Amino acid sequence: MLELAIVLPTLNERDNLAPLIERIDAALRDVSWEVIVVDDDSTDGTADAARALALADNRLRVIQRFKRRGLASAAIEGMCATAAPFVALMDADHQHDPALLVQMLAAVKAGDCDIAVGSRFVEGGSAAGLSSQTREKGSRLANRLARRVTGVEMTDPMSGFFLTRSEHLRAAAPRLSGIGFKILLDLLATANPSLRVKEFPLQFAERLSGESKLDSAVAFEFLVGLYDRSFGRFVPSRFALFGTVGAAGVVVHLAVLTLLYRFAGEGFALATVFATFAAMTFNFWVNNWLTYRDQRLAGLSAIVRGWLGFCATCAIGALANVAVATLLQARGFHWVLAALAGILIGSVWNYALSSRFVWGR
Ligand code: GDD
Ligand code: MN
Repeated sequence: MLELAIVLPTLNERDNLAPLIERIDAALRDVSWEVIVVDDDSTDGTADAARALALADNRLRVIQRFKRRGLASAAIEGMCATAAPFVALMDADHQHDPALLVQMLAAVKAGDCDIAVGSRFVEGGSAAGLSSQTREKGSRLANRLARRVTGVEMTDPMSGFFLTRSEHLRAAAPRLSGIGFKILLDLLATANPSLRVKEFPLQFAERLSGESKLDSAVAFEFLVGLYDRSFGRFVPSRFALFGTVGAAGVVVHLAVLTLLYRFAGEGFALATVFATFAAMTFNFWVNNWLTYRDQRLAGLSAIVRGWLGFCATCAIGALANVAVATLLQARGFHWVLAALAGILIGSVWNYALSSRFVWGR
């Protein structure tokens, strides 16, 4: 009877697949297994290569997703697509050793633990396969942050290599975020807290072929995710980003103003007009690139339309700001308080309007 499903998320891993299936087969001689490749429409023909392998070996299955990205969401979908009682997640690039699956399966099966994790940072493991010093430092930092924020007690909650009963995964799946790479962390933070974790020393090897897909966008999403867990209830991450960009915009405004008014000797009104446009353009650009990275406007006409819409939004926001500030000041509030209230109302207004009309769908 089918016992274990091994999910391999892939993004351009064509040349790694065939040798990995051989290693899995060699390691799992006494286990009835299947492999589920979840490919995000790789451009190197990974899905075709996987299907060719699957024709020759009916223990392989292929899910090809279109217009989708993300290691975590691919992992969740693959792990929910099996009838096997046990399920493992593993990188397809040979950095994880399939031989470890045998001990991991035995431990979960025997009830030693509910989730078996391949850990680089537990006694006997190693992170030598991380491509650089920076990457290793980043990995340790991410681990520390993750432990602090979620309270999970383990050495490597960022590991992409674990095995569990598939029912545990299905129970948690509706609440998993599916964003970025941090599937295990999400699982631990979401799942029934009584699930017991055991770590197995993993010698994190070097990638066989191709290159890592963990880029700065993935790292940024990770930080946003941690923020959301800790402060998202109070101030949503998107609004926090919007506000931070707005504060940077004030600096841009003042810089341009100083340049034109103090140094170039322009009139104050004209200098203010230029400074205002510079700040709005800056804010529009950074928000489009960062705050609304998932809804980014692209192409000249979309960008011009977005920029005009953003300027119009800001104009209304500025009116709201002036109205609130003058009203409060006239009612006897301290002028600094009145100004801050105006800024807050103006920003909320800008945020609400621009997320609906500039970046809304
Ligand atoms: N389907 C799909 N979609 N697969 C993806 C995607 C995606 O968007 N991004 C990456 N993958 C696949 C890769 O093809 C590979 O099989 C696996 O996920 C891991 O990706 P790598 O790009 O090799 O990640 P890494 O080696 O830099 O990161 C590893 O170490 C991290 C900790 O340092 C992974 O194990 C991470 O899970 C882990 O957090
Ligand atoms: Mn890798």
